Amino acid sequence: MTADREPEGPRTFADPFGRAMRDFHRGEPGRLVYRDGTEVQDGNVEGFYFTPRAEWGEETTLELERLADARGPVVDVGCGTGQHVRWFQDRGVDAVGVDVSPNAVGTAREMGAERVLVGDMHDLPFEDGRFRAVHCVGTQLALGGSLAGIAALLREFARVTAEDAVGLVDNYDPTRLGADFFGFRPDPREGIAHRCFHFEYERARWEPGVRAVGPALHFLLCSPDRLRAAASETPWTVAAVRHTEPREIHYRARLERKPADGAGPDDRFSDRTTSDDRFSDRTTSDDRFSDRTTSDDRFSDRAGSDDEPSAAAIGARFFPVLVVRRGTE
Ligand SMILES: C[S@@+](CC[C@H](N)C(=O)[O-])C[C@H]1O[C@@H](n2cnc3c(N)ncnc32)[C@H](O)[C@@H]1O
Repeated sequence: MTADREPEGPRTFADPFGRAMRDFHRGEPGRLVYRDGTEVQDGNVEGFYFTPRAEWGEETTLELERLADARGPVVDVGCGTGQHVRWFQDRGVDAVGVDVSPNAVGTAREMGAERVLVGDMHDLPFEDGRFRAVHCVGTQLALGGSLAGIAALLREFARVTAEDAVGLVDNYDPTRLGADFFGFRPDPREGIAHRCFHFEYERARWEPGVRAVGPALHFLLCSPDRLRAAASETPWTVAAVRHTEPREIHYRARLERKPADGAGPDDRFSDRTTSDDRFSDRTTSDDRFSDRTTSDDRFSDRAGSDDEPSAAAIGARFFPVLVVRRGTE
C-alpha cells in the first residue's frame, strides 16, 4: 500500500499581491500579473503602489487634503503599502490603515506607516464613530461584488465614522469601458459591468517556477449614477465625482454623510457639485439618473438578490489562497 504523500513545495497562504509589494520594497525581483483565463496583464507594482508623491497629481492631493481637513482620524481602507497613510501621517493627521493582506500591512510598516493593521473591510476592526474621514481608493470597493454589496461596504464605512464624516472611494465607469478592458464582463444593466481576474506572483531568484496564485476576484464596476443609487441606501451621499486622467475610465467619488435626521434630499449636493470646477459636470448633470434608478424595479431587486455574490463571500475569498508549483511532473 502506497502511503499518501504531501505535495512538495510551500504550503502557505500565497497572498500574491502582498508578496509582490513586500518583495518590491525589499529589492527582491519578481513579477505580479493579473490573469483572466489565458490573458495576462502586468501588475505594475511600482507604478501603482510605490508612486512618488510628486507624480500623484494636483487633484489627487486636493482630495487627500480635503480628508485631512476633516480634523480627525482618517482610516485608509485597503491601504496596501500605506502610501496614503504615510502622506496623512507626515501632515500630522492621525491616520490608520487596514488591509486584508498581511504582507501589504508588513510592507506598509517597513516603509514607515505607524498605524496599520490586518483586517477585512467588510467587518472593520474599529469601534463605532471612530473616524472623521475614510479613504478607500484602489477600486477595492468594487469587491463588494454587487450594488447591494457596495452599499453594505458603505454602511460599514459609515459605522466606523462620525456623523459629519467625509470619504473618498473609486471605481471604473462601465459607460466608458470596452470589451478590451482587462477582465471585462458586460452586464445588460446600464452603468454596470464586471471585472474578473486573479493575481499570480512569481519570484525571479527565490522559488523560481513557483507561482503564488490568489483567488478569483469579482469587481462590480458601476457608473457614478449607479454608485449614487447604492449610496442612497446608506448614510452617505455622493457629493462630487471626478473622472481621472488620462483615459477618464476611472473615477473618484467624494462622499459626505447625510444629515443625521435623514430627512429629504441633501441640498448641499447639487450646489457643491455644480460649483466645483475641478469635478466633472457630466456625471452630476444626468437627469435620467434619478428617474431610472427609482423606476427600475429590476435594478433594486437584483441589487439585493441571492444570485449575486455577497460582499462577505467575496471578502472571504480574497485572502485564503493557493500556491502551485509549475513543472513538477
Ligand atoms: C489596488 S490596492 C490599493 C492599495 C492602496 N489603497 C493604494 O492606493 O496604494 C487594493 C488593496 O485592497 C486590499 N483589499 C482587498 N480586499 C480587501 C478587504 N476585504 N479588506 C481589506 N483590504 C482589502 C488589497 O489587499 C490591496 O492592498
